Amino acid sequence: MRTCFLGKFGVSLWKIAVLWSEYPPTMPDKFKLDLPIRPRRLRRTAAVRALVEETILRPANFIAPLFVVDGKGAPEPVGSMPGVSRFNIADLVKECRALAKLGVPAVALFPKLDASYKDERGSAALHDSTLIVRAVQAVKKALPEMVVMTDIALDPYTSHGHDGLLTKDGRDLANDETVEVLMKMAVLHAQAGVDFVAPSDMMDGRIGAIRGALDEAGFSDTAIMAYSSKFASAYYGPFRDAVGTMKIGKVAGPSDKRTYQLNPANRREAITEALLDEAEGADIVMVKPAGPYLDVIRDVREATRMPIAAYQVSGEYAQLHAAAKMGWLDLQKTRMESLLAIKRAGADMILTYFAKDVAAELGK
Ligand code: PBG
Repeated sequence: MRTCFLGKFGVSLWKIAVLWSEYPPTMPDKFKLDLPIRPRRLRRTAAVRALVEETILRPANFIAPLFVVDGKGAPEPVGSMPGVSRFNIADLVKECRALAKLGVPAVALFPKLDASYKDERGSAALHDSTLIVRAVQAVKKALPEMVVMTDIALDPYTSHGHDGLLTKDGRDLANDETVEVLMKMAVLHAQAGVDFVAPSDMMDGRIGAIRGALDEAGFSDTAIMAYSSKFASAYYGPFRDAVGTMKIGKVAGPSDKRTYQLNPANRREAITEALLDEAEGADIVMVKPAGPYLDVIRDVREATRMPIAAYQVSGEYAQLHAAAKMGWLDLQKTRMESLLAIKRAGADMILTYFAKDVAAELGK
């Protein structure tokens, strides 16, 4: 046999060829970890994965936020929220019926008022036949079983878009004066037939005050879903487009909502707010936004035994749609994953603009 210079060391070319052919070593056949614990055993098949699934989304977990306008016009698409429209009352009722058929038990209604109805003090909020009152009456009449919730805050009614009344110098919101209006607003909505009022204003003491006002007016069965840990978030942008409150800071009042909504940097304060609302008589506490605040949902979950709602807000919805439109994300998969994450974090129910589409998908 011919040998190269390595032959001097007793290595034949043949032997080198054999060694070479075995390189790299074929791991699965030859190599075995001594590994009694293999978590992948529980991921092998779809059936096994289903068996060990920890978090399950169902249509009954969803509350669908819906926008309502006056008149008899066709649904008005909201530019920054693909697939979301403002409905007239008749179409709103139809939408609620479609949601009920899909197993979605609850809706949160938001009015978009014509600018001519808005003023500095949000007076139209207390008109007894204001749009939201008629919308609630229509939905409850057609679908008595549907859980109807309404926002208690003045932003759709004020010319400046803030959630309450401004102080005299216009640099902040007047807490107690605002609460007084909200108490009346809550009673008005209770009279219209809502199941839940949802104070979203973040004034101090409003949950206790509203509970008292409802009870005194004979509405002790009307529940309160408190927007408890509501952050001063930039993710509300598309919603302000939907309800026409983009004027915040441009006409009067502070330039943003940071004197009443929570600082996005604060976890402990978010828990304090939830516990305060619980003590004041809230039936459900909420964390909002949801996706960017999963830690807060978990914190509140661990701090209380109350049911927790999380609001996947307009900006969370818009960003998935925008990325999907660019072809960068799979809308169907990311929306499901985003909702699953919110529930996994500890939310019992989720307000989401995906409610209808995801309920339909879950029902298939
Ligand atoms: C108003 C209100 C807002 C949202 C719900 N109620 C906006 C805000 O506080 O400025 C946001 C909802 C969303 O972005 O989807 N009090």
